[in-house]
Amino acid sequence: MPIIIYFSRKNENMLHGEIKNLSRGNTAIVTSKIAKELNIEAVELIPAKEYPESYQEMVNVAKKEKIKQARPEYHLAVPDLSDYNEIIIGYPNWWGSYPMVIASFLENYDLAGKTMYPFCTHEGSALGSSMDDLRKSCPNAIIEQGLAIHGSKSDMANKAVKHWVTQLILNKNK
Ligand SMILES: Cc1cc2nc3c(=O)[nH]c(=O)nc-3n(C[C@H](O)[C@H](O)[C@H](O)COP(=O)(O)O)c2cc1C
Repeated sequence: MPIIIYFSRKNENMLHGEIKNLSRGNTAIVTSKIAKELNIEAVELIPAKEYPESYQEMVNVAKKEKIKQARPEYHLAVPDLSDYNEIIIGYPNWWGSYPMVIASFLENYDLAGKTMYPFCTHEGSALGSSMDDLRKSCPNAIIEQGLAIHGSKSDMANKAVKHWVTQLILNKNK
């Protein structure tokens, strides 16, 4: 069975054009649903430097990180992934792709031969260029079809999650 590695940010975010303060990030909500469906562990990728609570500040920081192609440091409770052949990787869409902290993770591990199942939450751009970016970053991994959930609908994503998990992951692990 796979492991889930995810990054998610709580605090201020934009939902349907309005700034809301989230006590739990959208990607974290979807992560819990996937973990429950599969009865597996989810491990959070925590940036070493805390991101701003303010949405506008966060947007600016993320933009700078993307322009600089920064590789922010992070903590991950499971440093050794060699026991896992399959990795479910979750992230919010930031500026059209995965956040730079995900890029850091992808570069820190040898993911050759592993099967990756990407999912994201977003506010309209779905997976953006993240699938292409993943393929470029991990050319020797098998990248399966991604799942995109609108962030504001994360609470209601049970059906989409179940479908994705069943079609792609459970069928493969039968
Ligand atoms: C810095 C930043 C950049 C974002 N860029 C995009 C984007 O390019 N396209 C999009 O659809 N949503 C974008 N969003 C919205 C998030 O993808 C969406 O709110 C997501 O559900 C947040 O997940 P989280 O709560 O797990 O962090 C952005 C949000 C932030 C904070």
